[in-house]
Amino acid sequence: MLTSAPSHAAVQGPCDIYAAGGSPCVAAHSTTRALFGAFSGSLYQVRRSSDNATLNIGVLVAGGVANAAAQDSFCANTTCVITVIYDQSGHGNNLTQAPAGGAAGGPDNLAYATAAPTTVGGHKVYGVFVAPGTGYRDDATSGIATGDAAEGEYAIFDGTHYDGGCCFDYGNAETSNNDTGNGHMEAIYFGNIKVWGYGSGNGPWIMADLENGLYSGVNAGLNSGDPTINDRFTTAIVKGEAGHWSIRGGNAQSGGLSTFYSGARPNVSGYNPMHKEGAIILGIGGDNSKDSAGTFYEGVMTSGYPSDTTENSVQANITAAGYAAPASVGPAPGSRISIQATTSCCTGDYIKHDDSDTKVVIAPITSSSSSTAKADSTWIVTTGLADTSCISFESANNSGQYLRHSGFELYLQAPDGSALFNQDATFCPQAGNSGTGVSFESWGYPNKFIRHYNLTAYIASDGGSNAWDATSLWPNDTSWLVASPWA
Ligand code: AHR
Repeated sequence: MLTSAPSHAAVQGPCDIYAAGGSPCVAAHSTTRALFGAFSGSLYQVRRSSDNATLNIGVLVAGGVANAAAQDSFCANTTCVITVIYDQSGHGNNLTQAPAGGAAGGPDNLAYATAAPTTVGGHKVYGVFVAPGTGYRDDATSGIATGDAAEGEYAIFDGTHYDGGCCFDYGNAETSNNDTGNGHMEAIYFGNIKVWGYGSGNGPWIMADLENGLYSGVNAGLNSGDPTINDRFTTAIVKGEAGHWSIRGGNAQSGGLSTFYSGARPNVSGYNPMHKEGAIILGIGGDNSKDSAGTFYEGVMTSGYPSDTTENSVQANITAAGYAAPASVGPAPGSRISIQATTSCCTGDYIKHDDSDTKVVIAPITSSSSSTAKADSTWIVTTGLADTSCISFESANNSGQYLRHSGFELYLQAPDGSALFNQDATFCPQAGNSGTGVSFESWGYPNKFIRHYNLTAYIASDGGSNAWDATSLWPNDTSWLVASPWA
């Protein structure tokens, strides 16, 4: 049995460590890297919108990281979604588009393939960005724990991307897509919903979704041993065996794991013994509740209850893998900028708010423009109102008012205190969609970017139901130059 961080981490994956510890992986999902040292198959599949063609994305070398360059080339000048997250364990437990369930219709949305860029070991790769409405599932699995059988689960999430909706989960759920009662699930939950259990601080928390309850400890409500944990890369663990279960967690970039709960099953009918059904969900609740957000990089489910020692070695493997946020693109919080269009029609135009209404447009600005027009086209970049790893734009002359979308059109408004406003006002910069400048992706609608269309500003996808989703000139209309502030 392995008892410490392996010196040969480059050829050993988390699932080799679980197997050596007597609790082998029966599902292993990642869009970023191989989870077995010998794995050389496909990690995931993408589908592009231009012709609906699909491509499997493999690893650069056996046991290595995803070949993101293959995705970039296949998805160039179009958009891609993740259609399959393959099971690396050999059990065929692939995750695909989740169907309708008792709580919500379906099929669920698929994640945009470029929405969660990151790096592993210095290599650019992509995670799975779950916006509300997005979900993956496998209802016909093999080898996954059922009934009261023991299992372990870990996942790496973006600890800064979460919400209070139900339920951003990864793990064991019902095979029918319906809530079939207490104890019919055992999945990792990550977020700050307080409807059932919660922990100390304001969240997010790692909890166990055991069905009809997210548990942070033995009882519903506050269990102060379960701390707020929001590392950019967070390792989250839930494991269960007869009469006993645990929550553990840590920073996936450094350090070890802590145990946040280890003890008895909830003292509520249905949870002891458990009635696990063995389906696998990602991004949703057991009954397809899909009001939640999060980002998933990798995760596994094991047969048997892994020892803390085994998990500590897995954590060492994870920290050695070298997850890191991608180099930041776009303007830094605190900077004062103007935002210049790049489409050939309009290279003298800048994003500007109207004075007579709350609309946002592009308009020509020159050194001889009025001081009001110059100030109307100047923006103070702030950390994102909904996500500190993204940004928001505050007006330079209407202090306290921000660019936000509503009905997919941009407006200048003051926050109303709602989470929705903050999400609508948060944009995540990416390299320009045309290859020039920078593009600003809507936080809540990945792959809708700030676009000008008929001189008005929107958020737009590359094809879609709104006129401003027109594919013609979309890459150019969504690419901007960060310019010196006019005021
Ligand atoms: O247990 C919390 C949620 O409750 C489950 O994910 C869902 O199936 C039910 O609505």
